[in-house]
Amino acid sequence: MSDLKRGLSEVVAQAFADAGLPPELGRVTASDRPDLADFQANGALAAAKAARRNPRELAAQVAERLAGDARIAAVEIAGPGFINLKVSDDALSARAQEIATEPLAGASAVEAARRVIVDYGGPNVAKPMHVGHLRSSIIGESIKRIYRFRGDNVVGDAHFGDWGFQMGLLIGAVTDEQPQIAAAVEALNAGRPVDDEAVRAAMGAVDLADLDRLYPAAAARAKEDIEYRERARRLTAALQARTPGFHRLWLHFHDVTRVALERDFHALGVDFDLWKGESDVEDLIDPMVDDLAAKGLLVDDQGARIIRVVRDGDKRELPPLLVVSSEGSAMDGTPDLATILDRKSSFDPALAIYCVDQRQADHFEVVFRAAVMAGFAEEGGLEHVGFGTMNGADGKPFKTREGGVLKLNDLIEMARTKARERLHEAGLGAELDAAAFEDTAHKVAVAALKFADLQNFRGTSYVFDLDRFTSFEGKTGPYLLYQVVRVKSLLRRAADEGVTAGPIRIVEPAERELALTLDAFDAAVAEAYDKKAPNHVAEHAYRLAQSFSRFYAACPIMGAEPDVRASRLALAQAMLRQLEQALDLLGFSAPERM
Ligand code: ARG
Repeated sequence: MSDLKRGLSEVVAQAFADAGLPPELGRVTASDRPDLADFQANGALAAAKAARRNPRELAAQVAERLAGDARIAAVEIAGPGFINLKVSDDALSARAQEIATEPLAGASAVEAARRVIVDYGGPNVAKPMHVGHLRSSIIGESIKRIYRFRGDNVVGDAHFGDWGFQMGLLIGAVTDEQPQIAAAVEALNAGRPVDDEAVRAAMGAVDLADLDRLYPAAAARAKEDIEYRERARRLTAALQARTPGFHRLWLHFHDVTRVALERDFHALGVDFDLWKGESDVEDLIDPMVDDLAAKGLLVDDQGARIIRVVRDGDKRELPPLLVVSSEGSAMDGTPDLATILDRKSSFDPALAIYCVDQRQADHFEVVFRAAVMAGFAEEGGLEHVGFGTMNGADGKPFKTREGGVLKLNDLIEMARTKARERLHEAGLGAELDAAAFEDTAHKVAVAALKFADLQNFRGTSYVFDLDRFTSFEGKTGPYLLYQVVRVKSLLRRAADEGVTAGPIRIVEPAERELALTLDAFDAAVAEAYDKKAPNHVAEHAYRLAQSFSRFYAACPIMGAEPDVRASRLALAQAMLRQLEQALDLLGFSAPERM
């Protein structure tokens, strides 16, 4: 089973070979003039140039050999030597039938499944998430789903930031505010017996809202107040030495944050398989440093221990990886390196994809080079998949009206508010009960945010424009949901009237267009996979919805002759199945009604 484009490429490549031309020039692409042809092969131009021959003549030679293929209804030479191909109605009908009945992932499944880790999201204990985390979550989730869809064994890891200086700051701030907790922590640190229930209750009273309030204040104070900062540093070190009271309090911070984060992520359709944190690799660091030293990779640099990663021919100057600072503490890249080691021993991925802001590119390049030098990963087995920023109208990374960083939760609530307005405008306020209305508003909001992000190549920055994102018309998430809802209601009506689908017969131009669009799904998914670029799936979903819209306008379904009606119904079902799958790969789904 193969899509038409691939099938035709093989035929054309053979025709090139038969004509004594390089077969790789026989590649077929979708036509840029769908009014004239379905596919085109442009290779005769390059072949003629190399052979110093007339391109139209070469194209005619190739065309002659193609004429006998049953899949091809017409071959024409256009312009200087383009070969235009029109697929026969029979071939198109057979292909559409295949798409309607065969497993969705069938044709695009990878030949050999690999173990893949996607490192995305990257939330931190007690620090609220912002729009950078939103992009990482949206893109990472989609890449994870696309890889899984094609058959790889994929694990998504939130890579929880749970072990840094912010922990010392928080321990200080919470114990300052809550004498009861301070006393319990002190007793535990000193190894004195405590009333376990009372400790649990005291710590349990500190919730995420408290951490949200205390952390920014503590962080701000640490910037001004040297003594306060020093104390937080000591507390961090004591935590990292696993002093019992501090560790217990930390565990509480960790757990409350994680529960709240999981809830927020889940609402966004983002779910992780693993919540490994920096704390999980802490114990690996000392032996890793010994290992790196034994391998001769560590160099002393003014008291610090570094790994030099520069290579001949580097276009930009990369800093070394700072493994141990002159004060003896592990640095930024060290937990990342230890995590690579940890993943190798637990899962041994063939590929780890890091979905993190493009501005971190050098950081990851340095860490990855060090990991390969140390034998923790294969060359090419670690890949940073960066992305641009979501900007405000001023073209700078998005800020709130007050100039602060927008919290993820506030952003989602803004989108939901706008979605409710849109649904009211569309008159759905009266039609849906309160729970269904809220569910629909949430789905519209998530689709709006995700599609607005994923329709661009991830490296591109884009401007946040909630008005445009939530519109039911144009290239938006809600438009796609609306198309799904429309087909579903059509299919419900058909079912109510006892009308069933039957064999697909492609005849009309709008049917041809829809079948050709359906055929392009596998290639779009493969492209998204190879480039780690979900925008190819987003683009396909949009084209599919548009093709369907034109088909629906041009080809009556319920009013048609029984055979035609059965065929068109089957086509509508196939399109719904594929569109819902595409949306699922992007990480959102449609409501029942809107
Ligand atoms: N927690 C980090 C942040 O909030 C992102 C972590 C990215 N992933 C990684 N493996 N370092 O910026």
